[in-house]
Amino acid sequence: MNYSFSALAQASLTPSAINELTAGFAEDFREGVDINLGVGYVNDRTIPFEAIQKAYAEIVARPERYRNALNYGGAEGSPNLRRSIREYYLKNGIGQLNAQHFQGRRILIGANGATSLLDALSDVLQPGVVITADPYYYIYTETLERKGFRILAIPEDEQGLDVDLLEEAVQTLDPRTISFFYLVTVNNPSTVILSDARRKSLVALAESLSCQTGVKIPVVFDKAYEDIIHNPELAQPVSGLRYDTLGLVLEVGTLSKILAPALRIGYALVPDDQLADALVQRTSDIGFSSSLINQEIAGWLLDHHILVQKEKVNRGYRDKALYIQNLFRRYLSNYLESYTGGEAGFYFYLTLNQVRTDKGSPFFQFLTRTTGDPSADGCPEKKPRLVYIPGSICSRSPKSLHQLRLSYGFEEDEVFERAVQLIAEACEYDRVASLSSK
Ligand SMILES: Cc1ncc(COP(=O)(O)O)c(C=O)c1O
Repeated sequence: MNYSFSALAQASLTPSAINELTAGFAEDFREGVDINLGVGYVNDRTIPFEAIQKAYAEIVARPERYRNALNYGGAEGSPNLRRSIREYYLKNGIGQLNAQHFQGRRILIGANGATSLLDALSDVLQPGVVITADPYYYIYTETLERKGFRILAIPEDEQGLDVDLLEEAVQTLDPRTISFFYLVTVNNPSTVILSDARRKSLVALAESLSCQTGVKIPVVFDKAYEDIIHNPELAQPVSGLRYDTLGLVLEVGTLSKILAPALRIGYALVPDDQLADALVQRTSDIGFSSSLINQEIAGWLLDHHILVQKEKVNRGYRDKALYIQNLFRRYLSNYLESYTGGEAGFYFYLTLNQVRTDKGSPFFQFLTRTTGDPSADGCPEKKPRLVYIPGSICSRSPKSLHQLRLSYGFEEDEVFERAVQLIAEACEYDRVASLSSK
């Protein structure tokens, strides 16, 4: 007998490209031998364990301020945390927002990180075209596609999504089919920072299309990595909310990258209208906003610890980025065409010279030890394996077949040296393999 599945469930029966890629590997991952540069995990050493302990102790000791902290919370989020987020923005000039920008807007806390707010958005907006940059945040675009949205991925340059190309593409579309814009301000996978000028043009374009159709086309800025722009020479970006004249802009943030992913705190600054009501209802439907104690801890950390924390996290990733760039020069100069990254977030997005990186390529097989050749794979014990995200998962451009994302969040420096050496060996393996197949 079969189940009577919904369209979403039917689409979910096929694992996403990334799940398929990592499933086999995850089962027999060997700690200290295999290297995982695929995951978006933060570095454990950046997590403020002691401050979290202190926050917890203070919260449970002050029930008059932190009411029912171990009970159910509400759907919109802890009032303490929402106040702390607002103050964090205003005191530190985040996005150059002032008190006026918070008027007519609500701060919502997701059920389970920014991911759940993005998911809620895909439940409340009518499926249609979602405009985003190429390369794209594959986890969310896959969710969207499973829910019936179509992705219009516009190539980015060094300033982010190319608005001229988007304007051309929009000419060929019925604007009524556009659901929303999804813009990752420090892009994942490329870590290209969306410039202020581009933010402004994108909001202006969405406003003009909304006026044309008479339907609001929301512009979602996902600023997951904006707190970790670690090159001190770069100016901090201006929030897209500053350009919003029609109430179309939503800013989605997370405390995962700067505090701790396990707190599962994601938030959104949303126009105070029906969209906010619908998002809150979705959060309520799936069990309220994040665990209340975690929200209170996060708020406490924003009030008391965020500046020290930010400085520490950014210094850590900065040092690591510089160290890895040296490794690229030392080991990959013969194989690397170009790369982005090293200024913000914790990804490098590499373009290799000629070498293909997609699943099934000799490069991929070498690093996953699935070539079938015992001298390359190791026998009986497999040689060290390395996981990365192939460009073909996060982009539609032909170039993506030669691209890969490496995460430098989780693994330590010494592991990275081995990793970059393995990548060089895989490039060499690919060269020999392609010469012998000619
Ligand atoms: C671009 C982007 N948005 C959102 C998220 C999810 O954040 P959260 O941990 O708050 O769900 C991530 C996590 O990697 C991300 O890369």
